[in-house]
Formats: sequence, C-alpha cells, structure tokens
Amino acid sequence: MSNTIEFDYKPALEFVEQREIDRMGELCVNARKELLSREGLGNDFLGWIDLPVDYNKEEFDRIKEAAKQIQKDSEVLIVIGIGGSYLGARAAIEFLTPSFNNQLSKEERNGAPEIYFAGNNISGSYLQDLIKIIGDRDFSVNVISKSGTTTEPAIAFRVFKKMLEEKYGKEGAAKRIYATTDRQKGALKSLADEEKYHTFVIPDDVGGRFTVLTPVGLLPIAAAGCDIDALMKGAQAQREIALNNDFASNPSLQYAALRNLFLRKGKVMEILVDYEPSLHSLAEWWKQLFGESEGKDGRGLFPASYDLSTDLHSLGQFVQDGTRIMFETVLNVVKPPKDITIDKEPVDIDGINYLSGKTFDFVNKNAMKGTRLAHTDGQVPNLLVNIPQQDAFCLGSVFYFFEFAVGVSGYLLGINPFDQPGVEDYKRNMFGLLGKPGYEDLTDDLKARLGE
Ligand code: PA5
Repeated sequence: MSNTIEFDYKPALEFVEQREIDRMGELCVNARKELLSREGLGNDFLGWIDLPVDYNKEEFDRIKEAAKQIQKDSEVLIVIGIGGSYLGARAAIEFLTPSFNNQLSKEERNGAPEIYFAGNNISGSYLQDLIKIIGDRDFSVNVISKSGTTTEPAIAFRVFKKMLEEKYGKEGAAKRIYATTDRQKGALKSLADEEKYHTFVIPDDVGGRFTVLTPVGLLPIAAAGCDIDALMKGAQAQREIALNNDFASNPSLQYAALRNLFLRKGKVMEILVDYEPSLHSLAEWWKQLFGESEGKDGRGLFPASYDLSTDLHSLGQFVQDGTRIMFETVLNVVKPPKDITIDKEPVDIDGINYLSGKTFDFVNKNAMKGTRLAHTDGQVPNLLVNIPQQDAFCLGSVFYFFEFAVGVSGYLLGINPFDQPGVEDYKRNMFGLLGKPGYEDLTDDLKARLGE
C-alpha cells in the first residue's frame, strides 16, 4: 500500500452499476475542469487549491519559531476560535497525538504545552472550568478569527486577555498573544497592531473551512509538536493526484461521483464513520466542510458522523433498520499507532478466551467488516477511505482529498461550494435579542415571536 490514502467503492457496487459511475466520472472530470479554470461559482475563494505548494515560506518558518517559543514559555496554550477557525487544528492534534495527551507530563509530550480550545461555545461554565485548569501556570493564547467580530471567540478572548494582562502586565501579555486574522482589516487585526501581538495571516482567498493548512491550523498543530512539514507534503502528494489523475485513479473525483450518485438515488444523509476515537474531531471538521459547502439552495446531503463501535450500541439500530435515508463513508486506519493483545483467563467465564492472543485491532477490524456487511444488507451502501497510518503525511493527504472532493461535488450539485450565506441568519436574530446597536428594528418583532 502507498502512503497516501485510498478510496474504495467496491463495497457499494451492489447499489450502483459501473456504467453509472463512469458516466458520473465524466461529469466529475468536467467539474474539475471548471474548478481549475477558476471561472466557476465562488472563484474568489480558491486559494486552498494551490496552498500545499504555494504558501508563504517566511510565515511558515515564523510559525515554527512561535511554536517553539510557546513550548518554551507555556504550560498551557488556549486556542480561541470557532468553525473553520478551530476545527482543523483540533482534528489534527487529536489525530496525531496520544488520546490523553493533556494528562501526560510536558516531558512525555516532548515539550509541548497542554492545549485547550475556547471560543467555540457560549458556556460560562466551560470557561470557568478551563480557567481552573490553567490555575497559576504559565500560558499563552492563540486567538483565531478572520473577521475579528465573531461573538463566541471575541467574548472568550476578552476573558483570557484580561487574565494575561493581570498576570504578566500589558507588555508581557502581548508577547503571549498570537493573533491569526485578516491581512489588513477587521477588529482583531486593528487590536493586534495596536497592542503589538504576534500576527499571522488568514489568506483572503481561503474560506474558513479550508484554512487548516494556513496559520489557522498550522500554529496550534506545530505548538502541539506535530510535523507540519510532513502535513504539507501529504497535502502536496494528494494535490498532484487530485489535479492530474484521470477518474480511474483519482480518489477525490471517485468520492465526489459516488456520493452524488447516492444523492440522486434518494439518499439524503451521509454518515462518516470512524473506528478510532482519535478520529472523532476529524469527522467534526469534515461535517463543517461538507455541511457549509453543500447545504444550500435546498440541496445537498446532510453530513452526519458517528464513532464505532461505540455508537453501534446506540445509533446502530437506526442505521441498520430505521428510515432508509443514508449511506456511510468509513475511515479505516490500516495500521493504528498502538495495540494491545488480549490475554487468556484460566477460567473462561465470559467466553472470550477464543480471542486470546488476538489484538484489539484484529477485533476492531472484524467489527468493521461485519458492520459493513450488515449495513449493506440493511440497504446502507458503504464507501471506504483507507488511511495507511496516523501520521502527519497521511493526514495532509486526507485533508486535501476531502477539500478537493467537496469542490468538485459542489459544482456537480450546481451550487457555490465556497460561500455560507445561511450562517448569518441566527447571528442577526441573536444580535437583535442581545440589543446590538444597529439591530434594534429586529428586537421587538423577535421578542413578540418568543412571547416575551
Ligand atoms: O467557515 C466559515 O467561514 C466559518 O465557520 C468561520 O470560520 C467561523 O464563523 C469563524 O469566523 P471568523 O474566523 O471570522 O471568526
């Protein structure tokens, strides 16, 4: 097996004919042409296509320097951001580091700080608990927001900025605040310039959900001690394949084709399935990528995810036997980083001795294969993404595979995959209810509707 990912649609072949796939493949090749012509919908947000080869090398080196500085002077790093401004970093750190990384000693983490995420919810309880975790230890903050005005990260940043200033003074705090934001405009950019924070740029032509390979993702990932050179190399390798290979050897195009075939055959939901807990946040990243890109104009597949075998004991019943609306895309880590062999008990009370000498991964893989067949029998088609191992190169490859697929898939759907008009609606209502200046006209109407 190569060290880039593989896409396998053979398990779904009893639901689609090869000739249908080939026809959809031709449409995918055309959609790729449109994407690469940079003349299609949303063409001012295509910076992600060349990012793995065309990134700011000077800034990349500064990211590594900043990561080293954070490792040197901080026990804890707080990463503040929401949506595209945090999901990629979280996905990468959980994929690449041990399961209970924050509970290990700094030495065991090779000098990396504990990393916590904030500003991705509006819970005061969560923040209070996080403040307690920091205690009186040294910490730094990476605040990430393109606009600088997103409510969730903005109010969380106020809390940690004040804490840093009280602990280190204004100048000392500025040395511990890393702001990742717009090149020249926005509230965070103005504040960062005024207070002399370290700053990193979110490129104008890369939308939030495509920013994992920009400083948005790279700084926290590097601070966690992960290899961002290998991450970029994996993305480069997958980019070569996505841009140049024909349909028969192009995982991104094949994946775009299959999911659109299932949509046209009446499936309305895609479930991304993982069998390793450390892939949970990768699925969260994927949900934003596909949900925000495709869910518009009354179209698109609803992207859901679950962790197996855990959720076989809850949602598994529905997937096997409930309303027939879904297909599954399974993330299969071919060789997990660690394993355990099952022991033999002298008295076989639980009847498990037949597994003695076998590894957890052996059991997990058989759970995966058995589930795939059961769900297929239950009319839930299965697609397979084989990830050779959990390293930075493979992860870079996974990120680019999905990003390119969503661009092609969105064009097949006839929508603009690079905007997100729908996320503004809740914000208008929230601002109206909170009394934000400029939204007064909405307040009375909303309160009347709520019966307040
Ligand atoms: O994909 C997107 O554009 C959104 O998820 C944004 O990333 C999210 O709303 C955060 O926006 P900002 O970076 O401006 O704070």
